[in-house]
Amino acid sequence: MDSGGKRVTLQLMVAVGTAVIGSLQFGYNTGVINAPQKIIETFYNETWFDRYNEPISETKLTTLWSFSVSIFSIGGILGSFSVGLFVNRFGRRNSMLMANVLAFIAAALMGFSKLGASWEMLIIGRFVVGLYSGLSTGFVPMYVGEISPTALRGALGTLHQLGIVIGILMAQVFGMQELMGSASLWPFLLGFTFIPALVQCAILPFCPESPRFLLINRNEENKAKSVLKKLRGTTDVSADMQEMKEESRQMMREKKVTIPELFRSPMYRQPIVIAIILQLSQQLSGINAVFYYSTSIFEKAGVAQPVYATIGAGVVNTAFTVVSLFVVERAGRRSLHLIGLLGMAGSAILMTIALALLDKLKWMSYVSIVAIFSFVAFFEIGPGPIPWFIVAELFSQGPRPSAFAVAGFSNWTANFIVGMGFQYVQILCGPYVFIIFTLLLFGFFVFTYFKVPETKGRTFDEISAGFRQTAVGGALKPSPEELNSLGADSQL
Ligand code: GLC
Repeated sequence: MDSGGKRVTLQLMVAVGTAVIGSLQFGYNTGVINAPQKIIETFYNETWFDRYNEPISETKLTTLWSFSVSIFSIGGILGSFSVGLFVNRFGRRNSMLMANVLAFIAAALMGFSKLGASWEMLIIGRFVVGLYSGLSTGFVPMYVGEISPTALRGALGTLHQLGIVIGILMAQVFGMQELMGSASLWPFLLGFTFIPALVQCAILPFCPESPRFLLINRNEENKAKSVLKKLRGTTDVSADMQEMKEESRQMMREKKVTIPELFRSPMYRQPIVIAIILQLSQQLSGINAVFYYSTSIFEKAGVAQPVYATIGAGVVNTAFTVVSLFVVERAGRRSLHLIGLLGMAGSAILMTIALALLDKLKWMSYVSIVAIFSFVAFFEIGPGPIPWFIVAELFSQGPRPSAFAVAGFSNWTANFIVGMGFQYVQILCGPYVFIIFTLLLFGFFVFTYFKVPETKGRTFDEISAGFRQTAVGGALKPSPEELNSLGADSQL
């Protein structure tokens, strides 16, 4: 079914562009604490000295720093899990707008922490901006998925990831000592989050609410229609309207889908397992071992200018997200994810070889740069962007908010585990640390190969009908009551 064609209207681009400012914030705050670590640690040390008249011990400083880094993902876990509380009550657009309160509070706490001589302010600020980012990782892909025409859902969905990677790159560049990563300017570096929040608050009120939300959740047919006309740039939106109405009828038959029901119902069990494993494949691929610790990885690999190599990784990261953006509607989600996972596994093996032979062959440090760059490039081909937007595709309007909460929670928890655990595991395994990721990557490849369906070019309704069919036809037998709720038009 054609659902809006391939027209990219100005309205659509403004709405998507404004939404992904939330993604940029997430990326920025992921990358921002990497470069100025030493300088902020000095601030912690001085503050400690002023308070207690003695220097801080090495272990206390490490703990305080690790905590400052990882509390961001704890905020992310809580934020992403709360997505469902907002989106149906306030709508998708207004939820994004409201979340900015958190960004302003976080910017103030972090930006004034030096003036207030308080590392507590910085840590709480990181937590609050983590909450904001967790919410964004649900709000943004949901909104973008719901306003995009079917034929462009993958390409526009990838813009969420593009926002994230541009945020990371900006943070890496601004964090250089010559720019804002200095003893006097680091509070501005952290407080910068204020600016994107301001821009988003200024433009979002002019962006439309998701037409699916208006029609399916609010039953405001005329409003939904007029929003669609603007977004699609055409007066004939009957195909879109018809598809949404079908989804709406389907949803009326479903009770409100809570998180436990996602796991209990045979109709949702398969897509929710796929959504979770895809999120895990993104995080347990080891990507954030690179984005949190690349500088120290490069240092260990004997690279002369580790900070520049880190920025190089950020550039490759951004470039390949753009590549994915252009091929995702042609190649499809499944094949790109498979290629990405396999390529990452190959790069991880190359990295292991480079690290293991480093003592004997000095030029292996160059091989390690190639390995990390290709690891990052393959990540952005599939495992970076696809898990985020595929959640919107795997579920219809009813279960979608709960599905986003579960997927986000899985993603952020795995993010936290890698962020906290990587350095300890690295001490244990030495140059062989990337073998763990290699094995995991092969596991995710096998899962994707056998279990993940292609969603390219299919409407939300067609995708969920596919799952209903497997639930009925496969080993997963629904209860008679659930069968009933599938209705006469399903594929029985
Ligand atoms: C994905 C991940 C994020 C990671 C980024 C790297 O968006 O969710 O954790 O830092 O990609 O580009």
